[in-house]
Amino acid sequence: MNVRTQVAIVGAGPAGLTLAHLLRLRGIDSVVIENRSREYVEHRIRAGVLEHGTVQLLTEAGLADRLHREGMVHEGVELLFDNEGHRIDFAALTGKSITVYGQHEVVKDLIAAHEGPLHFEVSDVHVNPSSAVVEFVHNRQKQLLQADFIAGCDGFHGVCRPAIADQLTVYEREYPFAWLGILAEAPPSSHELIYAYSPRGFALHSMRSPTVTRNYLQVRPDENLDEWPDERIWSELRLRLDRDDPAWHLADGPIIEKSITPLRSFVADPMRYGRLFLAGDAAHIVPATGAKGLNLAVADVIILADGLTEWYSSGDEQLLDAYSSACLRRVWRVQHFSWWMTTMLHLDPSGDPYARQLQLSQLRYVTSSAAAATSLAENYVGLPLHRQEAS
Ligand code: FAD
Ligand code: PHB
Repeated sequence: MNVRTQVAIVGAGPAGLTLAHLLRLRGIDSVVIENRSREYVEHRIRAGVLEHGTVQLLTEAGLADRLHREGMVHEGVELLFDNEGHRIDFAALTGKSITVYGQHEVVKDLIAAHEGPLHFEVSDVHVNPSSAVVEFVHNRQKQLLQADFIAGCDGFHGVCRPAIADQLTVYEREYPFAWLGILAEAPPSSHELIYAYSPRGFALHSMRSPTVTRNYLQVRPDENLDEWPDERIWSELRLRLDRDDPAWHLADGPIIEKSITPLRSFVADPMRYGRLFLAGDAAHIVPATGAKGLNLAVADVIILADGLTEWYSSGDEQLLDAYSSACLRRVWRVQHFSWWMTTMLHLDPSGDPYARQLQLSQLRYVTSSAAAATSLAENYVGLPLHRQEAS
């Protein structure tokens, strides 16, 4: 079957679905294809922190009713080291806040608001960056989608980046640790997120609702979940999040999800070749310590939506031509911030005592100097987005 559309979007994650929505608001048609099921993408547990600008964009695009009802607005985070907590006050330092709301909830809201073709469980996806043709199989039928442009929003393991691999320069860094993440039926033990630097390794206390917490532990990249029965996870979290405060107590409860994710930094440059544009994790990955992955995906598609709108309304290609360099400017700022947070907060497995003293010095500085704290805060809440009107 042959179908024609303006923009073929590969991948129904935050990048692909947000792009489809922004384009529809501007009268541009798209077809979204996704290789997983709707059930799977709506329950895939990933990021949880939305920057100020991401919330604003989703609000302006009419996608944030539930986000405003159920999301938790946080005006700071805590850095915990030497058994003492230090608050970074985003509201005082930047006038902005972040919202804690699960990525899968954002995806559910985007799917519920979606209008137009959105095909789940497709397979055998092939993209042609010169002709903007996308081939795929859906319901056992081979389909040929002829578009003006392809948006490669298919994540780090998708097919779009490999299709132009010989055109790309890749920058990457692997870290000698991974995150063991759990979702637990336990109330948050703090009003705000806690990033803990401990001699046993990094830990993060986060949340999804007043009854569900999300916690992470730094582990070795080759570690297996079998080595981490629930009780070991809780006891390690208790040790790493411990503090000199007799009132402190980490509430525990049944663990409902558990996974290990390696930390990686990755950038593909340029983010466009021919009629194929890469956006989100398809083009870049950051370690989750800065809570940036989802936000960066949204920042890319805002720029792409503006470029496509200009092209369709006036035939002017200037914004599309500038897409890659405009995105990469923000991508590299976020790469640096995520690398910096990661390096400051994780224990170097080689146990280098010099590196440890540098980390402690940096932590003391960032929690005692208004200038250093402001730098962390403005990056964490998100630097201003490049944007025209969302609708
Ligand atoms: P994705 O969300 O990956 O969406 C891509 C979509 O494309 C997926 O639905 C995928 O199924 C689909 N797809 C793939 N291949 C094809 C194909 N051939 N055809 C059609 N569709 C395809 N960030 C944080 O800030 N905190 C976290 O705790 C955190 N945890 C993470 C855990 C994991 C396991 C991963 C992979 C990422 C995590 N991230 C986290 C990063 C954040 O979730 C991502 O940056 C964000 O999902 C990027 O959105 P995206 O739309 O670009 O990509
Ligand atoms: C999360 O809640 O999943 C989360 C929060 C902050 C991060 C990473 C993940 O830096």
